[in-house]
Amino acid sequence: MTTRRVRSRVLLCFVGLLVPAVLSAAMAGGPAREAREGGEAEGDPAVERARREVRMLDTLYKTAVVSVTDTYRRGQPAIMVAKDVFKAMDEGGFHSARLVDASMAPLGVDNDPKTDFERRAAEAMRRGETYLDEVVGEGEGRRLLAATVVPAVHPRCAECHGVEEGDLLGFIRYEVPIR
Ligand code: HEC
Repeated sequence: MTTRRVRSRVLLCFVGLLVPAVLSAAMAGGPAREAREGGEAEGDPAVERARREVRMLDTLYKTAVVSVTDTYRRGQPAIMVAKDVFKAMDEGGFHSARLVDASMAPLGVDNDPKTDFERRAAEAMRRGETYLDEVVGEGEGRRLLAATVVPAVHPRCAECHGVEEGDLLGFIRYEVPIR
């Protein structure tokens, strides 16, 4: 094989790896722009475990939603699948997750920010933040509230939502027990 062929293979491989990585990085947001609240919880290993759980769930949900969007190019939006999964997780007592609008023009009637944390998260996302979290409750009842940005990462998202690719759509709001 010539050097040139090897090079183009390496390049293809790299692009193949890069596209999903860029998509999930765009969805998950880099740590550089993270804004965290509840400063007193820094260094608490239980809070760090809850943050890790949020990062794991975020990768899982976002990879699934983008993959459904990319694989099934017609029909219902992937949010319908996500909503079923969120409901099953909530009913199982594992955690709560919700897709919330930050664009001020939600397609779903119930997707506007409802709680104080969701309203603050929507404002933070509009200012350009990609992540926000906060510890609430006490003792056994402590929970991590987290919000992770959701831009229009795929041309289909942008088309259906009537925005430009890359524009902010909303965020996933997590509520995860701290233990
Ligand atoms: C086929 C059309 C369609 C596509 C494609 C689509 N969406 Fe949606 N999206 C909707 C609809 C409809 C709702 C409201 C659903 C509901 O809550 O009943 C929604 C809701 C949302 C919400 C909550 C805020 C709101 O507008 O209600 C976000 C955030 C969101 N979508 C992000 C995305 C992302 C990211 C993608 C691409 C990966 C995507 N959507 C692709 C139709 C679409």
